[in-house]
Amino acid sequence: MWLNSLNLQSINQYLQLPILEEKNIILALKREDLLHPFISGNKYRKLKYNLKAAREKGCSTLLTFGGAFSNHIAAVAFAGRERGIKTIGVIRGEELQDNWHQNPTLAQAYENGMRFKFVSRQAYKEKDNTEFITQLKKQYGDFYLIPEGGTNPLAVKGCEEILVAQDSEFDVICTCVGTGGTVGGLINSSHQHQQVLGFSALKGSFIKETISQITIKKNWRLITEYHFGGYAKITNELVVFINNFKAETGIPLDPIYTGKMLFGLYHMIKNDNFAEGTKILAVHTGGIQGIEGMNTVLKKKNLPLLE
Ligand SMILES: Cc1ncc(COP(=O)(O)O)c(C=O)c1O
Repeated sequence: MWLNSLNLQSINQYLQLPILEEKNIILALKREDLLHPFISGNKYRKLKYNLKAAREKGCSTLLTFGGAFSNHIAAVAFAGRERGIKTIGVIRGEELQDNWHQNPTLAQAYENGMRFKFVSRQAYKEKDNTEFITQLKKQYGDFYLIPEGGTNPLAVKGCEEILVAQDSEFDVICTCVGTGGTVGGLINSSHQHQQVLGFSALKGSFIKETISQITIKKNWRLITEYHFGGYAKITNELVVFINNFKAETGIPLDPIYTGKMLFGLYHMIKNDNFAEGTKILAVHTGGIQGIEGMNTVLKKKNLPLLE
């Protein structure tokens, strides 16, 4: 079934937790993670119109970029297999060249037909450079290019479909932020009475500029305090939080994005950042496939694992 011929919508799951009762806050999780077994969460939204465009252009190859644990790489590989089109992943880190099959995300992507080009961190920085893309075209022939993290105007258009009419009852909409496309789509489709909070998974606030380019609305704020040291960095405190959250709610969180957002949101609720009676909708953007890869890292460091 072509992804763009589906019109998937997720459910809002209301959480019942002591802290929410104590602070008189309503918190629901929009379960985008349950949309599709392999192209889950914001990946479904971001790929939907891009796959349609690739098909309309008659492209038989998708080329994209990502790191070793990228949810986006995993989703593109699966989408390519589903559609019978070739996929190429330009992967950050030459060191992976010899041991990528030990990385669960890359091993699965390969199984789904993706072929890799490993580049140094320095070369990877050129990923938006025309000369670099021209070289890739010489090597692989014509392809439909999907940028890192899948974010482009068609991805933002897809993410504008995450919120539905009933979601206007919420005062605050939360999501995690990597390349900014997801939060951009949410801001565009939010109502003026709502505030959109983007929890950055990366250190720093440079992504603010990207978000400002995606949207003209001003009802949003980037939260930068819960990156835990930076992209894909993790601490024991975060592992404990994610494991407790799963034990209490039955809902798995990923360690790179949604775990950090929920940790931050809890912290903010605890510290009375929201008025009593506030209704919050947090988008679960998926990323669960990354747990296995993170556990291999934690295991090597002799640290407690994600359950
Ligand atoms: C699971 C998950 N959540 C959130 C994000 C952040 O989305 P964006 O890059 O659109 O900011 C990503 C990355 O794309 C992701 O994989």
